[in-house]
This record gives sequence, structure tokens and C-alpha cells, in this order.
Amino acid sequence: MQKQRVVSGMRPTGRLHIGHYHGVLENWVTLQDQFDCFFFVADWHSLTTEYADTAGIKDSTREMVLDWVAFGLDPQKCLVFEQSQVDQHAELNLILGMITPVSWLERNPTYKEMLDNIEQRDLSTFGFLGYPVLMAADIILYKALRVPVGHDQLPHLEITREIARRFNHLYNCQVFPEPEALLTETPKLLGLDGRKMSKSYGNSIYLSETAEETAAKIKGMVTDTQRIRRADPGDPDQCVAFNLHRIYVPQDKLDEIVPACKNASIGCVDCKKILTEHLNERLAPFRAKREELAQDPGFVNDLLTDGSQRATVEAKKTIQDVRAALRV
Ligand code: TRP
Ligand code: SF4
Repeated sequence: MQKQRVVSGMRPTGRLHIGHYHGVLENWVTLQDQFDCFFFVADWHSLTTEYADTAGIKDSTREMVLDWVAFGLDPQKCLVFEQSQVDQHAELNLILGMITPVSWLERNPTYKEMLDNIEQRDLSTFGFLGYPVLMAADIILYKALRVPVGHDQLPHLEITREIARRFNHLYNCQVFPEPEALLTETPKLLGLDGRKMSKSYGNSIYLSETAEETAAKIKGMVTDTQRIRRADPGDPDQCVAFNLHRIYVPQDKLDEIVPACKNASIGCVDCKKILTEHLNERLAPFRAKREELAQDPGFVNDLLTDGSQRATVEAKKTIQDVRAALRV
């Protein structure tokens, strides 16, 4: 049986942190065995907000793709490519823009929220309003059936479905299937300071950092803020560090830590050492692979060029169908 096609993209934000890994990348790695996966660097999407400052996009792409491959994406199993290298994304974006009512875009919750909250940049652009059209183009260009996304992207996927439906209806055809979300259920990881782990907060543990850097960060990580002295009992449920213990420390060890924290028989310093050891041990082989891949300066370029060429073959087929439906 033919595997269903999956398409997903990530904006090139540079090195990934462990929150990205457990939130998205790990899921992609699982999917590559079950589906016909197309994973791409959404570099055009970066321009929707970073149009005035594009200097970092290439480097960010390289860092991100090194993380993708080192941490488990296998280019033999899935297609890894760059959006801007496949011209048909822009072409389909233009065509879909013709049929998308502005009102659908204006009522998009992400649009309203970002317009209101982002002050450093002027987001009153045509391109930013059209973000979901470009995203729809990315997905239906490959006639994807499934799209792994987080909750925040569901409104965009709904617009994608509406656009696909509208196209088929207007041109009386069945060119585009309506893609469905493959919802990634992942609790948000807390960063070093207890806020959501995010690059912009400077509270992240990066996949590509050294074991020593990680150890130093965990040493300084917030624990249970009510546990002030060593003799005070703590509560793992209120402890920021413990949100990482849950991921990295094996269950039998957790079963020892929880009561020991509650009766103050273990101190936070030792408790965090246990976390550090397990976290570093788990990431070590991936980190070593990343270092090896990074030695080859052409690795990412070659990979993206090859992947983009292969994606183009698929994209061209769809554009042919689109042009036939449009009679242009
Ligand atoms: N909008 C997505 C995000 O910010 C990235 C993205 C662009 C995407 N195109 C896509 C995701 C197509 C899935 C499918 O996370
Ligand atoms: Fe957190 Fe461990 Fe300290 Fe308890 S002992 S507060 S779980 S770091």
C-alpha cells in the first residue's frame, strides 16, 4: 500500500532547543517511517515578519538542518528541502491568492494576535496578511493528506482546507485533497527560568551545545521556589527542573526522587546532577553526529539542493494540474 503523504515545514530560526526536539522534531522522526514525508525549511515564511533583516536566514537554515539530520531525520527516508528553492511554492501562492477572500485572512486569530502584540516590526504588509495562503500553497502543492502541526497552527490548516475546497469548486475539479492535521500533543517545556522555553527568552538548552554548557545551565536552573533552605521539603510538581526530569530520568529513579524531595533527604544540587547526567547521556550520540556533519561545509547545501530538485519534480506535476484546471 502506498504511504500517505505528509508535509510540514519549520521557519529557519537557527539552532533548535530541546523544546523543539520534544515538541516537533522527535515526532517528525517517527513519522518518516510511517508516511511519505516532505519536510522543508520555510524560509519564505521568515520574510513575512523578518523582511527587513534577512542576513541571518542562510545561517539559521544551516544550523537547523544540521539539527534535523543529527537528531534523526534520515534523508533516505524523507524528503528534506528548502521552500525558496522550489519555485512552485511562490507560483501556487500567487494563484491561491487570487481566490482567497481577504476576510478569511483578516479573521485569522494568529494574524490579529501578532498585529496587536509585535511592536518592533511593521506587520501591516500584504505578505504578512497572506501568511496562511503561502502555507496552504506549501501543503497542497504536494497534495498532502496529513500535516503534523501544533495547536497554534490549526487555524492556518483550516484556511488551507477552505482554499483547497474553493479551488476545486471554482474550477470544477478534484485537483486538491483536503489535508488533515496530525496534531502533535506536546506539553510546553519550561525553560531555565520557569517560563516557556524560547529562544527569545534566553532560557533554552540547545541540542547542539556541549555537555558542560548544559551542566552549567542546569546548575543555575530554577527549582521549587518555596524550597529555600536545604532542610526545607520540596514539591516536584512545583519544581521547574523537574519538568525535565520527567523527560530524561527513568521512572524507577523518579520514584526515588519524589519522596526524597518531599522529605528533604535529597538536595537540589544532587537532584539536578542526576538530571544532567541523564540528559547529557541521551543527547551525546546525536551531538557527536552533529559535530561530524558540521565538519563538512557542503553537507547542508548538497542535501537541500538534492531534496529541492526532487521536490520540484512533484511540484511541477501539481502545477500542471492547476494550469489545466485554470486553462492558463
Ligand atoms: N507556519 C508554520 C509555523 O510557523 C511553518 C509552516 C510553513 C508550515 N508552511 C507550513 C507547517 C506547511 C506545516 C505545513 O510553525
Ligand atoms: Fe526540584 Fe529535585 Fe530540588 Fe525537589 S530536589 S525541588 S525535584 S530539584
